[in-house]
Amino acid sequence: MQVYLDGRFIDQADAKISVDDRGFLFADGVYEVLRAYDGRPFLVEPHIARLRAGLDALRMDTSPADEVMQIAERLIEVNELRGVDSTIYIQVTRGVAPRKHAFPGPDVRPTVYVAVKPFTQHPAAFFDEGVAAITVPDTRWARCDIKSVSLLPNVLANQQAKEAGAFEALFIKDGVLIEGSHSNLFGVLNGELVTYPECNYILGGITRRLVFELARELGIPAREGPIFHDRIHTVEELFLSGTTTEVMPVTIVDGSPVGSGDPGPVTRRLMQAYRERTGVPVEVG
Ligand code: PDD
Repeated sequence: MQVYLDGRFIDQADAKISVDDRGFLFADGVYEVLRAYDGRPFLVEPHIARLRAGLDALRMDTSPADEVMQIAERLIEVNELRGVDSTIYIQVTRGVAPRKHAFPGPDVRPTVYVAVKPFTQHPAAFFDEGVAAITVPDTRWARCDIKSVSLLPNVLANQQAKEAGAFEALFIKDGVLIEGSHSNLFGVLNGELVTYPECNYILGGITRRLVFELARELGIPAREGPIFHDRIHTVEELFLSGTTTEVMPVTIVDGSPVGSGDPGPVTRRLMQAYRERTGVPVEVG
């Protein structure tokens, strides 16, 4: 498997970073994850715009954002991933410099890493029957809108979910379910789609945005607003959205059923619409 690191296409086994890389030392970098369906990168423009915005927020050179998709296309080609579902992983760090908190000089170039890997779809039962989630306190920083590689709270929360036999951990902030460890969260309340407002406390998901667009096309009312933890029993449906998660029903939270306990009609319509948009539609059972 070939990957791209710092200007070179090389075997993954030969891809090495310096111990002085600021991504390694300080998590001083950002990343992106895209899907390629049948070898065709999906929702490229918004992902690259978010990468550029992240680099900008870190006051880094935004020029790597201009070239990463050409690199990804070449990796799809050389790794023979045309016609295959894959993930495109992009990471840009501030580069290699002796460890000092403040930025290094302008001569230090960013480290750019791109890898395309075959993606194994989640089991069909996750979509047909729904998954379980747990809730955890949100212990993250106040710039979750930046897709930073600093993901320790997300890692710990997701591990806790895994150990509880659940797929996702939902962060609770001020009594509100705001998003998952690696996905955004939608609820259906009184027939209306509700998701936490796009702000600095969540990642502005590209899939989240597409769900809004699909809801509009399908005539499903949708708004930004809170899903209160202590009102979870009034939630009719719950689902996750994300690049690797797609649209996935959540039917159990902290061991209790959500709504009827089965994926609801709004979730099913959006799941179907999402799959049609990817160009590789699979009938939702
Ligand atoms: N996760 N919220 C968080 C905290 C995320 O990490 C992600 C994505 C999302 C969904 O965003 P999008 O729809 O743009 O994928 C929301 C990626 C896939 C990951 O870390 O693997």
